[in-house]
Formats: sequence, C-alpha cells, structure tokens
Amino acid sequence: MPTQNPTAPVRVATPSDAVKNPYGRFADDGTEYHILRPDPPRPWVNIAANERFGLVVSQAGGGFTWIDNSQLAMLTRWHQDLSVDAWGKFLLLRDASGGGVWSLAPAPCWPAYERYRCRHGLGYTVFETLHAGVAAVWTLVCDPRSPVEWWFVTLQNRTRERRRLELTAYLEWNCGVHPGPQREFHKLFVETGYDASRRALLARNHMWDVPNEKYGHWNTPFPYVCALTSDREPADVQGDRMAFLGAARSLSQADALHADAWEPRLGRHYEPIAAMRVRVDLPAGGYETLAFAITAERGGDGLRAQLEAVHEQLARHGAAALGEALVERVRGGWLERLSGQRVHTPDGSLDHLCNLWLRYQAISGRILARCGYYQQSGAYGFRDQLQDSQVWLPLEPRRCRKQILLHAAHQFSEGRVFHWWHPLTEQGERSGYSDDLLWLAFVTASYLKETADWGVLDEPVPFADTRQPRPLSEHVQRAFEYTFARLSPRGLPRIGTGDWNDGLSAAGRGGRGESVWLAEFLVGLLADWAVIWDRRGEQRKAAALRERRRLLIRAVNEHGWDGRWYLRATLDDGTPIGSHTCRRGKIYLNAQTWAILNEVAPAERAELCWAAVKEHLIHEVGALLLAPAYDEPDERIGYITRYAPGLRENGGVYTHAATWALAAACRMRDSETVQRLLAALNPANKDPRRYWAEPYVTPGNVDGPDSPLCGRAGWTWYTGSAAWLERVVTHFVLGVRPVWDGLMIDPVLPADWPGARLIRRYRGCTYDIRIERDEGLAGDAPPVVIVDGVQAPSNVIAPDRGGERCRVEVRIAK
Ligand code: GLC
Repeated sequence: MPTQNPTAPVRVATPSDAVKNPYGRFADDGTEYHILRPDPPRPWVNIAANERFGLVVSQAGGGFTWIDNSQLAMLTRWHQDLSVDAWGKFLLLRDASGGGVWSLAPAPCWPAYERYRCRHGLGYTVFETLHAGVAAVWTLVCDPRSPVEWWFVTLQNRTRERRRLELTAYLEWNCGVHPGPQREFHKLFVETGYDASRRALLARNHMWDVPNEKYGHWNTPFPYVCALTSDREPADVQGDRMAFLGAARSLSQADALHADAWEPRLGRHYEPIAAMRVRVDLPAGGYETLAFAITAERGGDGLRAQLEAVHEQLARHGAAALGEALVERVRGGWLERLSGQRVHTPDGSLDHLCNLWLRYQAISGRILARCGYYQQSGAYGFRDQLQDSQVWLPLEPRRCRKQILLHAAHQFSEGRVFHWWHPLTEQGERSGYSDDLLWLAFVTASYLKETADWGVLDEPVPFADTRQPRPLSEHVQRAFEYTFARLSPRGLPRIGTGDWNDGLSAAGRGGRGESVWLAEFLVGLLADWAVIWDRRGEQRKAAALRERRRLLIRAVNEHGWDGRWYLRATLDDGTPIGSHTCRRGKIYLNAQTWAILNEVAPAERAELCWAAVKEHLIHEVGALLLAPAYDEPDERIGYITRYAPGLRENGGVYTHAATWALAAACRMRDSETVQRLLAALNPANKDPRRYWAEPYVTPGNVDGPDSPLCGRAGWTWYTGSAAWLERVVTHFVLGVRPVWDGLMIDPVLPADWPGARLIRRYRGCTYDIRIERDEGLAGDAPPVVIVDGVQAPSNVIAPDRGGERCRVEVRIAK
C-alpha cells in the first residue's frame, strides 16, 4: 500500500535523553534505545512484527516467536515469568580451546560480560557482548514481509590465539496455543525432524488446541510446519530436550555442549526442541558472520518454498551483507512509515516518543503483534484495536479505514459486537459491555474528520450472524439503536457488564445499572453523527440525534451530579459509585474528563469537577483512575474491587485514561496541569529503580498511592495508551486537530515551553506549523494563525488549499 508520506525528513535538533538512568538511554536520533546493563528491574523488551509474524525479545534474550496469532500460534515455548525471564531462544557459545560456555545474550548463562549492550530498534534487536576474548554481535530481525525471524551473528576473536568455537542455536518448540499447564499432554502430539538438504530442523503438531466446527475439539492439526535453519552445515542437531540437557538438567551446563558428537533424537516420542551446533575456527583477530532463521508456513510445501527463499537470499548476498541490508530495509521501512507526522518540542525524549516509539508501539505491538510480555492476546479487542488504528490517520488513513470495516464485520445484526475475536479461528465473545459497539461510531467520525472520505459510510459490510452486507452507516445506526433501546427510566444508558472500564463487571449484570461516563461518551458521538447526517442530507436523523444529545446532557446533569463532581455509575440496586457517599471509589477520573471533553458539564460544573480531579486524582505519579482504591472485594461492583489497592484500574494511574486527563487539562486551558501530567506520562523521565518498566514505551498502569510500590509501572507495550498519548500530545497539547471544517489550531502548551513545531499531512497538503509565544497577546486571547504569510480569519484552516505545502505560524499568549 503506498504511504502518504510527505515531508522531506525534518532534522530534529538531536535532543538526547533528559534523565540519566543507569540502565540505558535513547540513541541521539531516537531511533534505537540502548540498554547498557543486563539487569533492569523488569524485562525491557522489543516487539518486532510484520503483518503475519513476529518476535518478542527482552534485553536478556527472553521471548518467543509466533505466526498469524501471538496466542494461538506460538512457534516457540515461553512462559510468562517476568522475575526470572528465563524462557527464550538462545545462542550458546563454547570455546573448545578451553574457554568455557556462555550465551550471546545474558540468558540463560548470565556470564559476567566485559562489555554488554542491547540495542532495541524499529523491527530489530542487537546484542553486543565481549566475553573471554570473543566479541559477538547478534542481530535478530523480523523480515519486513515474510514469516522469517533472521539471526545474524558476527564472532570476532580478540585474542592472539586461534580459537575453536562451537555455536549452538537452541529453542523449544511449542507449535500451537500459548503453553498452559498441560505440557505433558500437549507434547505428545509434536513431531520433529531434520531435512538435511535444507539444513533445517522441523516441527509440526498433530493436535491444535482450538475447537473446530467440523472436527470438534482436540481434533485439528496445527496448520503450520516450523523450522530452524542455518546458512552453514551444522556439525550436530538435536530434537530432544532430555538428550540435550543430560544429567546436568540445566541449559547453561547442558551435557550436549561438552559432548564431541550428538546422537539426534527426532520424531514423535521426545521433548521437542531444535538445537543446532556449528563450528567456527577463528585465527587471532579473525571474524566471521553466520546466519540462522526461524520460519513457519502452512503445510510442508509452503515451508519448503519459504526455506528455499531463505537460502536463496543467503547464498546471493552472504550472511554479513544480507544482515546489514535487512536491518536497513526494516528500519528504513519503519522510518518511512512513521514520517507522515513529526513534532519538535523542547523535550527531546517526548519527540522520540511521539515521532517514533509510541507509534511503533501502537502499530508493531498493538495492531500487528497484539501481545507484550505482560499479555499474549492475538485477538482483536473490538474497542481496543479500533482506537489504536487512529494512529494511522496522519500516516496511512486507509489502514484505519480497513480496521473500521474489519470491526464492523464483527458486529451482530442486533447491534451488539464481539468484545474480542481471534483472527485465524474466529472464536470470540459476544459483548455485554455497553460501550464496545459505540467505538465504531467514534473512530468512523475521527476517520471522516481526517479524510472527508464520505464514501466509507456506504461501504457494504456483512453482519457477523446474518452475513447480510449493509452499509457502514447502518452498522453505526444499529449500535446507537441498541443503546437507546435500553435507557434507564432516568434517561441514562445502562452499564451492562462494564463499559470502557472492564472491571466494573457486575455493576449492571441485572440490566439496571447506569453509566454516567457512557452517557458523556454518547454526547460526543451524537454531536459528531448529527453533523454526519446533516452533511449526508439526512436532516431528520440529524435532528433526532441532536434531541437525544440534549436529553442526555440533561439526564447527566440531573442524575449524575454528586455536588462537586460527576458520579461514575449506579449499580443494579441503584447505589451510586464514584460518589462522596462511597467509602471507597469516591471519585472516578473518566466521569469528569469526558464531561469536560464532550461539553456535558456547564462551565461552572466543569470548573468544579476539574478542581476535584486536581484535589483527589492528580497525584505526583499521574492521574489516578479513581480514589481512594477499593480495599476489599465488592461483588456488586465487579472485579475492579478485587485488584490489590493501587493496582491497575483500582486506584492506579491507568495510562489510557490518564491521556484523556491530559486532553481535559488542555480543554480547561490549564497549562500548569498540562505540564505536570505530561511529565508524569513520559516514561523516559522516570527513575527505573522506582518505575521498573521500559523508558521508551508506555505502561498500561503505574501503581497509585494505595500501593506500597507507588510509582512502579507495569503492563508495558500491550496498552491502548500508546496511540492515545501520541494523539493527545499532537491534537490537544500542540492542538493541531482535524475538525469537520478543516485543521484546527488550538495549542495549550505546558507552562514552561516557549514554543513547538508540528509537521503533518492533512488531505493532500503538508502543513508545517510553528507555534510561538507572543508577548503582545493577552492571556485569554485566541491563537493568531498566519497561513502562508496571511492572517487567517479563525483558527481553523480550511482544507483543499490546492498547494502541496503550507507554512503556518501560530502566536499564542505568553
Ligand atoms: C483493558 C482493556 C480495555 C479497557 C481497559 C479498561 O486495557 O483491554 O479494552 O478499556 O482495560 O478497563
């Protein structure tokens, strides 16, 4: 698909990492993160993925590989153990001249390297180590298109003696659903083999643990054949774990590493692994580059073709040149893909995050891989990946369109949708969450504001049950109808088994509980869809939505106001939550921020509830989702109350929602709070000894004050906050956001920023927008917008200007 990439690359003023942390830093241009010690408090990982295939790898070398679905089709065995991080695919080196055994990433041997650096890049990771006179560079790269994980290994002998080295690539086969506790059962079905002509260790699985309509459960083969191959003739191969480990029962001390020859055990009766040993003799100062590849394809023929393609490339270029070319291609591909929008702010780490890492996290981690170290999903969450897909809007909007249509096809004709579903098997769960279906309306409106591609509304998409194709606009309409058919007698929507907040899972099980947040969310959707119907010439429908909106605003303000802030919801028995009358969970963030964002709150209430947010929820570590945290399970509310206090939604900073607090601070034009929240949300600003998690991606949550580990972050990568943080910074802080009539320029910069710059594509034109403070402007003056030297009549720049590039100067008050 052609990218819409516009700009000649803009040079960033190479800002380097603001905070010195002992474990690592961004490379100066931000395109890599360098981890300098192997032992950060938690695995610091990379997720390198293409449309079908990918790998997760930590700075220790832990991780796994999948094809087509990161939960249902994991090729290699891995267990989620973040404290030890011991499961992965490894390279073990033995010095047969007497120098011992070590690994080329810290796990599993944890050698005392003389030098160590792990470079996580866009689509690849590199381990650079020096140990016992051998310098090693191990590059893992996900092929840009094919289902191949490449390893390139350069070994250099830094001593004066000849070294006889033995390099063993080692992995355990999983070939199916993410490993559960039934290993002894599942391994009974895996078969390994060796194809000498292609130098490939193979694995297939005769039983895939997914139900199949035709054959029932436990009666389907895993559709792929998997392989580990090398560019050179292996000295030995092994397919059985016990034979490899021997009496030592330890990977780092494995008997096989010290044996002169291996007796391969391959077939159906062993504990399936792939181990491949190659010998490398290096004279003093000598070096060599070798390659390995892990791949999988449907059926034997598919795999054979794939292996031939791998070997053909290796033979044509040689390992060293192919390795360099692939890294450049993958990296270049990502840079090109991400270049459609760039920001330059006084905070260099924020630029690296917005220009590269947050969008890489959202695209590689959330949309393509759909997994992280903290969660292996593989599924599409109806609301999740739909929100994430907004990341494409300034880059390749067609991909957002595709995601919208895909989700619409997972809606039932009654209007409800799958809460999540698995591509590959189409298993899913019909949603009882009251908001899921409405995100279709939300993201479609975002897409239209960006592109004005009105034709999308007529795009026929089948319903999941009837298979009847109906226009996208009808899908949205059914979502609205489903919701409005279930209002409470007080005119508020029902919460169901939760709304955006999954953990409010019992609040409306009986069908009576109400959601104040959902009402506020709907108010925004109705405003947008009234415009949409108007522009489609459907004035009657538009008027009906406006009326509904008016009634909802009234209902929220009549029944959802608690005196100083908005309630969050009511339970089936009518008890309010998020009220000053509650012992715990007295105030919830989303009910306040969305009242502000969607203009549900009259000015005076907006001031009051924002003051309450600042008093009760804005903490040094960020904006808490609620306060105080629940300290005992409450079965009437749901599982949110079962989390330990201060964790995740239960009184932690839930980063996804915290980005909306940043947007609300902008709406309140509260630039001091903008400054505070932005600093709290920036993972690169943290001291990892307290924060633990990666500095280059967002965490799902940070422990709140009711946790003894307040300030500790977790659930990195697999979080909707990545796309949202980037969106809120560009749309609200820098304030450049598509609206119905063009590009609105409405910055609310942190109090200590003198200015900022943003360059983005919008409907065929590239806008270069420079924002500066102007002494001459009064504090509450609107921004002055000068377009190509001419002052604009308002702060909305009309689209379709005809030009290719447009310079915009924006003056804001001091
Ligand atoms: C998880 C879910 C997301 C939900 C959020 C809040 O991140 O994936 O869909 O909105 O939790 O509960």
